[in-house]
Amino acid sequence: MHSKTSILVTALAAAAYASPMGGYSASQASSYGGPNATSTGSHSAPTSWASGYGQSGYSSAVSSYASSYGSSTILGVATASPNPSPVPGLVGKLLTDDTTVDRFNDIQGELNAGAISLKFDFNPAANPGIKPGDGGQVDLANRKNFPVLTGLGVSAAGIFFQPCGLNTPHIHPRASEFLTLVTDTEMLTGFVLENQLTTEFNTTLTQFQGTVFPMGSIHFQQNLDCEPAVAIAGLNSDDPGASSLAQNFIGAIDPAVVDASLGIPKQIDATNFAQYRTSLPLPLAKGVEECFVRCHIPY
Ligand SMILES: *[C@@H]1O[C@H](CO)[C@@H](O)[C@H](O)[C@H]1NC(C)=O
Ligand SMILES: *[C@@H]1O[C@H](CO)[C@@H](O)[C@H](O)[C@H]1NC(C)=O
Repeated sequence: MHSKTSILVTALAAAAYASPMGGYSASQASSYGGPNATSTGSHSAPTSWASGYGQSGYSSAVSSYASSYGSSTILGVATASPNPSPVPGLVGKLLTDDTTVDRFNDIQGELNAGAISLKFDFNPAANPGIKPGDGGQVDLANRKNFPVLTGLGVSAAGIFFQPCGLNTPHIHPRASEFLTLVTDTEMLTGFVLENQLTTEFNTTLTQFQGTVFPMGSIHFQQNLDCEPAVAIAGLNSDDPGASSLAQNFIGAIDPAVVDASLGIPKQIDATNFAQYRTSLPLPLAKGVEECFVRCHIPY
């Protein structure tokens, strides 16, 4: 019996490794503990955005920005203070307030006490709980880290791309997104809506142009430039959520189920991947290998 994990690990390790926005879904919700709090991964991601420039192989592109803006670069102000960390339970209280006036009275009390802020700072340095990937990072303001949003049905993200950085394909389970490119760069974006309409909708943005990703669609953004890029996105939920496809499918689903979903491939590698992807099984797929063996079904 072939190894279930080795097939996938061999073929797709590169994709999983190059998961720049992994922190978007995994660490956003609970990561307020400072730069070291979530740095438990195996790859050597920089522990702070500012110190990460030099380690990431993009130092020449970035330093030209650094020299023109002092401590501020297109990728943010290195000295930005961290956003406040609201006390646990605050959002629950706000969600159960009888009226919006009651809720904003509570918010006013928290603001007066300095426990929350009326502004959210997207600067990566202000979001030390986000573990950057090699291609950049997403700083999402949702109701948990920016409680003023509670009940308003909106959120926003600042997306900081290194040169060539890819925000890997992901979905937002509870929000559509309107993304606008801020920098004078080029960005390829694309989405796949759902079954029955799986052609890729794509477009290329330049400065101050925006596009939309429907709720639940699989979508991505790719910085086509050799310079950093920044995009800002609005989402129509105060708890939009995110699920990174490659990372969560390959990384979190039982390997036997992943194998079955991929047609129990004997081998996937760089030489046959393009051909292989044309023969992916339809849903529902045949089933997991262990079941075939137990039921004496050839596969
Ligand atoms: C992170 O870890 C480094 C090295 O252990 C330490 O010098 C630094 O103070 C830590 N930073 C925080 C915010 O805990
Ligand atoms: C854009 O989408 C079309 C399908 O609609 C696809 O054929 C094409 O390769 C895509 N282009 C890019 C640059 O991703």
